[in-house]
Amino acid sequence: MEKMPYRDGITAVSTPQATHGTSQVVESDWKKALPVLTAGSITLRELRASDAPSLLAMLTTEEVARFISPPPTTVEGFERFIAWTQREREAGNYICFGIVPHGTEHAVGLFQVRQLEPGFATAEWGFAMGSAFWGSGTFIEGARLVLEFAFEVVGVHRLEARAAVKNARGNGALRKTGATQEGLLRRSFHRHGEYLDQALWTILDTDWRASRTNRTDSVH
Ligand SMILES: CC(C)(COP(=O)(O)OP(=O)(O)OC[C@H]1O[C@@H](n2cnc3c(N)ncnc32)[C@H](O)[C@@H]1OP(=O)(O)O)[C@@H](O)C(=O)NCCC(=O)NCCS
Repeated sequence: MEKMPYRDGITAVSTPQATHGTSQVVESDWKKALPVLTAGSITLRELRASDAPSLLAMLTTEEVARFISPPPTTVEGFERFIAWTQREREAGNYICFGIVPHGTEHAVGLFQVRQLEPGFATAEWGFAMGSAFWGSGTFIEGARLVLEFAFEVVGVHRLEARAAVKNARGNGALRKTGATQEGLLRRSFHRHGEYLDQALWTILDTDWRASRTNRTDSVH
């Protein structure tokens, strides 16, 4: 199994409530405003209405949308989605980070985390970004930031993800995060007129912390 995500690589965290180290942010702060998380070549931040045209262009292509729930089909649809993400974050149900590569202004993809029970002890994440950024390292940089945020700030204990078995890239991406494939959810996802099997992937907070410690130990 690959190493799990770890703390190094995160170069800055800025938020109205915190400056360095996401673990200093108290649980309720993210409901007021998401922090801005920065790694080597990307920033993760809350979506803005002005991201709508970019997200429409990036996430509605056939290769991106093939195995995910249907995205909005218009700029207005994405604007409504973005407003919904902010309401759900304020309600404490859901978190959505836009992926903004350095040197660009608008989000080219997103990471979503939603609670599966009140209080976020179990949660589910998902992600998508424009295919121009696939294979660039953007995904794993963003995933590490989101995992640290989920486990250290939000207090997630068990993080689940579902990926259609046919989605080789989605499953490959999850494997890279250090997630464990726990099982198969048979015919659990309806897309393009057929029911697809999905793999269930999980990361526990204990797995994530142990992996981070191993990584630190091996640096000497
Ligand atoms: C999921 C997504 C964000 C991942 O980003 P990415 O840049 O493609 O991911 P990466 O390139 O870092 O990692 C994907 C891994 O899958 C592997 N992979 C790609 N095609 C594969 C295939 N046919 N079989 C097996 N593994 C495959 C890649 O080689 C890579 O692993 P590696 O870096 O160890 O070689 C992106 O592909 C995407 O937006 N896809 C469309 C939306 C989607 O499917 N979301 C996931 C829903 S679970």
